[in-house]
Amino acid sequence: MRNAILALMVLLFCLSISMISCTKNEENGKEAKPKEVNEVEISEEVVSEPKGEGNLNRGKLLYNEKCANCHGPTGHGDGPQAAFLDPKPTNLSDTKYMSTLTDEHIFKTISEGGIAVGKSNLMPRWKFVLLENDIWTVVAYIRKDICGCEYKGS
Ligand code: HEC
Repeated sequence: MRNAILALMVLLFCLSISMISCTKNEENGKEAKPKEVNEVEISEEVVSEPKGEGNLNRGKLLYNEKCANCHGPTGHGDGPQAAFLDPKPTNLSDTKYMSTLTDEHIFKTISEGGIAVGKSNLMPRWKFVLLENDIWTVVAYIRKDICGCEYKGS
């Protein structure tokens, strides 16, 4: 009889423990959800490399999607839309000209648009479309693949 009571008590004890841990998990689960969403958002930015270097495939993808229409697939300023624009989209493959622009200038042009650097407002701003890191990725792509050049002083 004693044993039976003991066993019953142990059983009750285990039951209450498992119930507590169950309700705890539920609470944790509810709290954890919005946190998880935040974590994903943050990590997306952190995962991108500083200044987007070393990610030329993504640079090419972004360039072809957002820039090639005007500047042309190889940057010669001869995209399908170029015919309708005055001034014409800059020839980004012009090594001599592009060597006079700093990376920061190119970044600013892309981010804030032509008007922010004293150029035509036909060059759109991209800061509400592209993440900062993605803009740097495009800058790196222009440097390495489109003009194959770097800033050499103006
Ligand atoms: C709707 C057409 C259009 C699109 C799309 C476009 N551009 Fe331009 N861009 C222009 C035009 C036009 C100019 C020339 C402005 C001028 O000479 O006044 C220009 C100029 C530039 C310049 C030269 C700035 C300077 O100081 O000389 C850079 C760099 C540039 N664009 C990069 C880009 C990149 C990178 C993208 C894509 C993210 C892009 N552009 C998308 C039209 C466009």
